[in-house]
Amino acid sequence: MAVSAGIRVDVITIFPDLFGPFLDAAMVGIAAEKGAIEVAVHDLRAWTRDRHRTVDDAPYGGGPGMVMKPEPLVEAVEAVAGAKQPERRARVVLLSPQGRRLDQRALEDLAQTEHLVLVCGRYEGVDQRAIELAVDEEVSIGDYVLSGGEVPAMVLIEGIARLLPGVLGNPASAETDSFREGLLEGPQYTRPAIFRDREVPEVLRSGDHAAVDRWRAEQARKRTQQRRPDLDSGARGGQER
Ligand code: ADE
Repeated sequence: MAVSAGIRVDVITIFPDLFGPFLDAAMVGIAAEKGAIEVAVHDLRAWTRDRHRTVDDAPYGGGPGMVMKPEPLVEAVEAVAGAKQPERRARVVLLSPQGRRLDQRALEDLAQTEHLVLVCGRYEGVDQRAIELAVDEEVSIGDYVLSGGEVPAMVLIEGIARLLPGVLGNPASAETDSFREGLLEGPQYTRPAIFRDREVPEVLRSGDHAAVDRWRAEQARKRTQQRRPDLDSGARGGQER
């Protein structure tokens, strides 16, 4: 599938320092070097106006924790993405456990975006008016609760970066990624051929590429059946890739 090159990502967070080493490392660093992705990280506190640079406040109605205030958040999004109405090009995503759950298909869809703005929620939540006024969609990386959207934003960035054309060492590997076909990959081996009495399966050393393909497809099918029956397409079992 063709994915548009040159995606721009803006991250809005109260922990900008968390992103530095991540953005320089490995896949994302390579994608940035190649000009496939450009990431800018913004400190939400830059849009506060009080001496204490306050970004949160107690919830109306009481209860534990703090809620992110609407003013700095909406102003930050508008500064990097423009106003939501009437029309804006950027796609503004709030990372939150209430969002639509991320999967490979959603990543592929996000990777088509020209300009993505990732808003990292913190505390107990975000004032609902800020979400309505500034956010296009909410995304969750899974049914568990983290302290904030920073790690989820990194998950999105890494998942997108590896889909961009020319980013992976092997240009085909994003295309044949097992998750794209609803399958988990089977086991992988590298040298040495024998490690602590455990041998690499003979077929992988046979040089018979068709046999290797069949073996891998079968292993992937078995693993999917055992671990993720919800992903198993059944009829496809044993299909060569
Ligand atoms: N913030 C806290 N938990 C989260 C999750 N599971 N996904 C996205 N953002 C979050």
